Amino acid sequence: MLPKKIITPKVPPIKIQGIKTKLVPFIAESIKWDGEGTYFEPFMGSGVVGFNLEPQRAIFSDTNPYIIQFYKDIQSKKITSKIVRTFLENEATKLSSTPADKTSYYYEVRDRFNEEHSSLDFLFLQRSNFNGMIRFNNKGNYNVPFGRKPERFQKALITKIVNQVAWVEKIMKGKDWQFICMPFTEAFKMMKENDFVYLDPPYIDRYDGYYDSWSEEYAVLLAELTQKGKAGYAFSMWYENQYRKNTHMEKWTDGKLLTTEHFYHLGAKESNRNKMIEALVISDKNLNLEEVYHEQQ
Ligand SMILES: C[S@@+](CC[C@H](N)C(=O)[O-])C[C@H]1O[C@@H](n2cnc3c(N)ncnc32)[C@H](O)[C@@H]1O
Repeated sequence: MLPKKIITPKVPPIKIQGIKTKLVPFIAESIKWDGEGTYFEPFMGSGVVGFNLEPQRAIFSDTNPYIIQFYKDIQSKKITSKIVRTFLENEATKLSSTPADKTSYYYEVRDRFNEEHSSLDFLFLQRSNFNGMIRFNNKGNYNVPFGRKPERFQKALITKIVNQVAWVEKIMKGKDWQFICMPFTEAFKMMKENDFVYLDPPYIDRYDGYYDSWSEEYAVLLAELTQKGKAGYAFSMWYENQYRKNTHMEKWTDGKLLTTEHFYHLGAKESNRNKMIEALVISDKNLNLEEVYHEQQ
């Protein structure tokens, strides 16, 4: 089923910091895999990579229980695009009738979410919060502030979100996909010979606010499990930016390294655009673009 030519990747309804939308075409055309086994994505985040690749059999997992529950709810039809439309239309009215300060209706939904953990509230928060972040405090409570736009849910945005949910409903149809809340170590225990795993762990040395904290030990363990594991792999990591190079490359003695470049926007100013070279380490048997890889030093 892979490699796949993807020009404009589709975007899923739940966004997250570190989302790989822009890298989907690069990832899709760099890997080859016969699709015989199962596709694993143990750090699914938004799911943008696997959803665009559309494997027949897949196990998507993450330690963030709310992301997993959201997609399980779509799968069981507890949430449908129709339900999302009605829900957002109702909530939009309440949001627009409150101020953009700490008394905003947003905070009422945030408190409700921290009590009840409803997937619809999670979607509402993700699409009206500050910068599409997902962040939790050390008690496990969602604590992203309001994006300060009470008129956020205009008709066009609601339709956009509804279409994103409808897209996920459509690609799930007829597929053998499972969504499981578990740490990457558990996912590795399930992998077999013909499987393929796409890995996009949190970047080390950076605070990211994800549900779980990431550490040097995890990074070392993950590199080891990946290289010793039975499944073919593609592993995303940052390679270098204008200030420094990734010092964790030395853990990789196996596989081939492909690099690309893209810009991160930090703030609105053009001068704040930061060039980042992103890398993909791919197991030998799964490398598609043999002519463009750079050997690892
Ligand atoms: C860089 S993000 C993945 C982004 C994703 N590729 C995308 O494009 O949206 C990393 C993800 O790893 C998850 N995570 C953090 N620690 C984890 C662990 N120990 N096991 C599994 N997932 C973990 C976070 O919740 C987060 O969703």
